Amino acid sequence: MLPGPAPRQLIGPAGTSLPGSLPPLSLSVTGSRRFRSTSSMQGFSELARERSKTVTSFYNQSAIDASAEKASVRLTLATLLYSGKSPDGHHVLSSAKYLHKELPVRIAHRIKGFRSLPFIIGCNPTILQVHELYIRAYHMLSDFPQIKDQDMEARFCKLVQQLLDDHKDVVTMLAQGFRECRRHIQDETIIRNFLDTTLCSRLGIRMLATHHLALQEDNPDFVGIICRRLSPKKIIEKWVDFARRLCEHQYGNSPRVRINGHVAARFPFIPLPLDYILPELLKNAMRATMESHLDTPYNVPDVVVTIANNDIDFVIRISDRGGGIPHHIIDKVMDYHFSTAEESAQDPRMSNIFNNITNSGNQSSPMHGFGFGLPTSRAYAEYLGGSLSIQSMQGIGTDVYLRLRHIDGKGESFRV
Ligand SMILES: Nc1ncnc2c1ncn2[C@@H]1O[C@H](COP(=O)(O)OP(=O)(O)OP(=O)(O)O)[C@@H](O)[C@H]1O
Ligand SMILES: [Mg+2]
Repeated sequence: MLPGPAPRQLIGPAGTSLPGSLPPLSLSVTGSRRFRSTSSMQGFSELARERSKTVTSFYNQSAIDASAEKASVRLTLATLLYSGKSPDGHHVLSSAKYLHKELPVRIAHRIKGFRSLPFIIGCNPTILQVHELYIRAYHMLSDFPQIKDQDMEARFCKLVQQLLDDHKDVVTMLAQGFRECRRHIQDETIIRNFLDTTLCSRLGIRMLATHHLALQEDNPDFVGIICRRLSPKKIIEKWVDFARRLCEHQYGNSPRVRINGHVAARFPFIPLPLDYILPELLKNAMRATMESHLDTPYNVPDVVVTIANNDIDFVIRISDRGGGIPHHIIDKVMDYHFSTAEESAQDPRMSNIFNNITNSGNQSSPMHGFGFGLPTSRAYAEYLGGSLSIQSMQGIGTDVYLRLRHIDGKGESFRV
């Protein structure tokens, strides 16, 4: 639930959790241990009581049903931006009250989603664990008393932070859980719709929650999570460094990246979704480049990133010369769980030359793994009123276009 881009976790620069990177082993935490990992140490009996309440809620959940009937109140980022400062701190209190009311409704919608899954999927232990996390979050938030003053608000922040931490592995868990049981299900659209909705809702919840926590920080460049003058070039550079390091670790070298176009552009935007999407796209471009030049790993073509800014949206194009996406898989690369990771890890040249393939022997690595990078990035882009599209020139390379709407541009504003 309360998520971030923090799908698969890898700690990137500035401690950002990245998708795609947690070794699945980390999923082996049991439900009760996971619950106890929260920051405040509660008494054992309290934990037991909480757990039994969660379990009962699988069957009896009239409060959750009632909340799920309510409509969620989605805000434009312009609203968040302009209501984000008041000298007496009044805005922090209203933000907390909004969240306190809104989060249980959004979480109840997600719980309804879990309950509507085909039985065989809903019973998968990993998916059940996530379902349980959501039920628990629902109760903790809706049991929280009305927020009337700053003390209560501070306690509420602690709870929100704790829930963000508890839910940080949810994307990895869902990727793992659905991978375990997807062969039981014929209709792919069920999985796609569930994951698109759940992951985007999680992104929205995490953005709102992180925004609230960040409102208290005194950084003149930010209002909550909104950077007043975000430089696309700077954030691209940050993730280029990160992806190159991973790439060098795995392949012994990495392509250089040239950035061109509107390199001086600056505008208000939220780094959070870019912190998820950019590393995914850059990792894909670098992996394709390295794997299509296995015979000349120290002489590989550059990746080129082009920025285009206008008063409605901005576009980031990532072009690689990694051979393109073959015709027979082009229609599948946007499917959850579609990955050619296994083939490449089994390529004998790869294991001979670069026998440092990381991670727990299951073919996934921080560079590629679950087949979640593209579908999740596209879902996030669309959730924010943008798009992600691919143009592949088979035999040469791939261009990926990420288009995102401005927060206060001329076009219609998106809501989170
Ligand atoms: N730039 C690219 N050039 C060539 N093939 C690509 C490119 N980007 C993606 N692909 C292909 O699309 C597949 C799916 O990409 P996606 O990012 O969704 O998953 P992944 O990279 O395999 O794993 P993950 O991103 O979850 O770690 C990749 O396995 C790869 O075969
Ligand atoms: Mg990928």
